[in-house]
Amino acid sequence: MAYEFKHTAATPTPESERLEKLKNPGFGTAFTDHMVSIVWEKETGWQQPEVLPYAPIAIDPASAVLHYGQEIFEGLKAYRHPDGRVVTFRAERNAARLNHSANRLALPEIPIELFIAACHELVKTDIDWVPTGEDQSLYLRPFMIADEVFLGVRSAHRARFFVIASPAGAYFPNGVKPISLWLSGHYNRAGKGGTGSAKCGGNYAASLNPTDEAFAQGCQQVLFTDANDSDRIDELGGMNLFLVRHDGTLITPELNGNILEGVTRASIIELARARGLRVEERPVTVSEWQQGAADGSIQEAFACGTAAVVVPIAELRGANDFVITLPQPSGEVTMSLREELTGIQFGTRPDPHGWTTPVEAA
Ligand SMILES: Cc1ncc(COP(=O)(O)O)c(C=O)c1O
Repeated sequence: MAYEFKHTAATPTPESERLEKLKNPGFGTAFTDHMVSIVWEKETGWQQPEVLPYAPIAIDPASAVLHYGQEIFEGLKAYRHPDGRVVTFRAERNAARLNHSANRLALPEIPIELFIAACHELVKTDIDWVPTGEDQSLYLRPFMIADEVFLGVRSAHRARFFVIASPAGAYFPNGVKPISLWLSGHYNRAGKGGTGSAKCGGNYAASLNPTDEAFAQGCQQVLFTDANDSDRIDELGGMNLFLVRHDGTLITPELNGNILEGVTRASIIELARARGLRVEERPVTVSEWQQGAADGSIQEAFACGTAAVVVPIAELRGANDFVITLPQPSGEVTMSLREELTGIQFGTRPDPHGWTTPVEAA
């Protein structure tokens, strides 16, 4: 279905300023000239989608989202290919995941085609903001908030869906470096029946304190374990986790309702299986990792997510001098999967799975 977007043009950022921002975009600090906004009301459903100038949004102090945290979001990227085309990567998966989150947070589902059309419309409108530098992309942040003005505790009858876009620099500008993880001892990310598999702001709010703890310990990411079993691995603050056995087998925690179903995770699993590698999705424990690293049966480990794609892990550290060191950080399996996936995303390799969708020229 083709959606008609109502456009209100922004005063464009002067070219020199835009090019300056695109030179070294970093992550999440610069934003393009426009945003998509779509209002939903319980009685009438989704209203006409709009492309508006990027600007602060006025929100009533009694809006439900400000009190009960009814908010969900997504993260995906648009990539510029060597032939000049701009593509998005598996956007339908982000749309489906947003709807999964919407169900859990009692927000309305959005038609998958409308989600994709909204992302593509924004990229088309702000196409000059898609960076051309190596490993650079345009990060898209769709999100939904409950903005009914009502303090009663029930699901809101009014919501707004937005898409904003931010040029993103290379995650590893000086070459891929293995990271250290901090094992969260006191805090968990999710519990049975909770919101672990939803991408909602509240999950991230709860992860910030343990993430600060990880930073204070000199680590770059926090590793969470199961709320009922502190040996059982869930995922990182913002990425999924894989262990790699000496025979190339990948092991990753199963989707147990407590972890986020990463689009990168799913893509890695498909790429590995297409290579003939075994992938085990099952419960994974810290003890298994510790023993495997010690006896050499586990050689590599990596984290994966849209922002960084695949990040090799050097070590897992925790309280009381706990440490697991990986025999081969940045090993062959980790780095070749990273290379294959980024090659498909950036168009330097064929896309046999049909994962990329071109954003037609406006
Ligand atoms: C908690 C968490 N797990 C996993 C991921 C990886 O998901 P994806 O590969 O879809 O980016 C993310 C990033 O979105 C995340 O925030």
